[in-house]
Amino acid sequence: MNNESNIIEIKNLKKGYDHGQTMALNGINLEIKKGEFVSLMGPSGSGKSTLLNMIGALDRADEGSIHVAGYNLMEKEDFSQFRSKEIGFIFQFHNLIPNLTVSENVQIPMLETDVADEEMVKRANKILESLNMGHRIDHLPTKLSGGERQRVAIGRALVNHPSIILADEPTGSLDSKTGDIILKILREIHQKENVTLILVTHEPYVAEMADRKINLMDGKIS
Ligand SMILES: Nc1ncnc2c1ncn2[C@@H]1O[C@H](COP(=O)(O)OP(=O)(O)OP(=O)(O)O)[C@@H](O)[C@H]1O
Ligand SMILES: [Mg+2]
Repeated sequence: MNNESNIIEIKNLKKGYDHGQTMALNGINLEIKKGEFVSLMGPSGSGKSTLLNMIGALDRADEGSIHVAGYNLMEKEDFSQFRSKEIGFIFQFHNLIPNLTVSENVQIPMLETDVADEEMVKRANKILESLNMGHRIDHLPTKLSGGERQRVAIGRALVNHPSIILADEPTGSLDSKTGDIILKILREIHQKENVTLILVTHEPYVAEMADRKINLMDGKIS
């Protein structure tokens, strides 16, 4: 890292699919400060999800450099520890595991850590209570509304107190009122916990809430 206050530093990052026929990211340069709230906009196919996947080490870039929370993500190693410690992912469709209860879903990120079983249950249920989901801890996700599912997904993303939350259209599958509740929760978490928040959205009014707006176009920041 060049600058201590940056939690993310990306230089000339490239990622192609189908043997380079599709350049999803075509030379991204980006620095994000610790605690910053950044919104990411751009047309469908412009590379937004690909960029989040690179930052969260869900996938590897082809070229360039990417440093996140002190990790060099171009190194050829296993980043599962990095992901569970530093990153909380929230997706458009919550991705909860259907045959696990709400509480068990929130405990998943702690399985990678050495937290004892009892403590895992305690922490999961505490965070669910703070999201007004305390009365639903033993339910299966299929029995919940869309907004409730997304609150569980937020709980799962937060339970390890990550330094970065990557939210990929977290309100995309919700009606506007429920979506606003989810956004309010994310903004409160950002303010209270000094967490770095990167939020993909198609809604200009949502993008306006951020400290900084970034636009992607054809795999580049425009
Ligand atoms: N696994 C994959 N295999 C092949 N091509 C892919 C893959 N994932 C993404 N792409 C391609 O990479 C480009 C960027 O995709 P990406 O999903 O990052 O876009 P996006 O900006 O998130 O779009 P949307 O707003 O629709 O979610 C697109 O052209 C897409 O077709
Ligand atoms: Mg996407």
